[in-house]
Amino acid sequence: MPVTVLIGAQWGDEGKGRVADWLAGSADIMARYAGGDNAGHTITVADEIYKMHLMPAGVLREHTVNVLGHGMVLNPEKLLEELAMLRDRGFEITPDNLLISERAHIITPSHRAVDAAKEAARGDDKIGTTGRGIGPAYTDKIQRSGLQMHHMKDIESFGDRVEAHVARWNKMLENIYGQAPLDPQAIAVQYTDFARQLAPFITDTTSYIHEALAADKEIVCEGAQGTLLDIDLGNYPFVTSSSPSVAGALSGLGIGPRAITRVVGATKAFSTRVGSGPMPTELFDDDGERLRGTGENPWDEYGTTTGRARRTGWLDGVALRYAAQVNGFTELVLTKLDVLSGFDTIKIAVAYELDGQRIDHFPANIEALDRVQPIYEPLPGWSEDIMGVTDWDSLPAETRAYVKKVEAIVDVPVTQATTGPARSHVINR
Ligand code: IMP
Repeated sequence: MPVTVLIGAQWGDEGKGRVADWLAGSADIMARYAGGDNAGHTITVADEIYKMHLMPAGVLREHTVNVLGHGMVLNPEKLLEELAMLRDRGFEITPDNLLISERAHIITPSHRAVDAAKEAARGDDKIGTTGRGIGPAYTDKIQRSGLQMHHMKDIESFGDRVEAHVARWNKMLENIYGQAPLDPQAIAVQYTDFARQLAPFITDTTSYIHEALAADKEIVCEGAQGTLLDIDLGNYPFVTSSSPSVAGALSGLGIGPRAITRVVGATKAFSTRVGSGPMPTELFDDDGERLRGTGENPWDEYGTTTGRARRTGWLDGVALRYAAQVNGFTELVLTKLDVLSGFDTIKIAVAYELDGQRIDHFPANIEALDRVQPIYEPLPGWSEDIMGVTDWDSLPAETRAYVKKVEAIVDVPVTQATTGPARSHVINR
């Protein structure tokens, strides 16, 4: 039962898309387990760049079946757009290679409108959400009033359900946020059309996964977002509303812990974050600008989903150690190592100073996390351009020393490092 879970070790955007693409090379099944179209994957295959928000990376491989698990919240319009994009680009997506959980929850325009209204009402305290309706959709789920994908299969009653749902959220939009109500009937008509198109893909993915486990198929659970955005483990409230960490894979796909054989943590060789919330190693100087890039290259630090410039900083070893602990990483993939070329000195935070005391743990309290000062260990940089290097021994000694330092801080082996956007720009150790 070889199940691998791929998890973001930071605040999302760790370059998981290309790691997922690599894992998809040998996977029978790629399954997403949490989040929705707040995620963004960029995968480069030859000269083609694929930007996807919902589809697992296996859609680009002929032999892989893709599952959207029940821990997800799905915007049917985005799902259909992504299906159309893939079909236009020559990929055949059918109910045989895409299975959508009947238990996954549905995102509606009401969720998106409330997401925007809530953010506006928070003013300076806004979370900086992606505006995709994620929080309100999970609110509906947790308060036991959500619409699930299996409702789409009962086409007769689905329109009525959607109408009632929109009318219910309209009360909140009007009475609490002073916003114009949405049109329940128009949305019901639109969603009934989506339901007709999606119904063939909606199925019992839990049984499917258990049949695959019994047949010893190789399954990769593809995480979205990152551990520090986890609703339970992240910097609450500046988090997303799902569980991107390892527990989310279990509950979001319906598998037990003993099925998991490998937990791969993906981390950039430095830090980035989008949205609000503490980021202890954030840089506001030229080094930070340089890590971000200008936006001219596809790999520069601008969001796949929102296009927002990402906040940048040195690698936070304290946060990374925390992510390794709470997920039980068996290995780490270090992405974008090539971006660090050309710095005279590279720093890694090895501990924090909090109110004059050295601490080695990641504080739960965001006010404390906001106050911490990183204690950095400086390492010598390298001037060589390492983009595209595939051989560990060909890396400059300083680059190898940097990777080894990361391993020592986190106590997890770095089994792979990426040195560029192409599939081949990888060092396997
Ligand atoms: P939401 O998930 O749209 O509610 O946004 C909550 C927080 O998570 C915000 O800070 C977002 O910027 C962040 N976030 C959500 N999804 C991603 C992602 O895929 N990458 C990076 N940040 C994300």
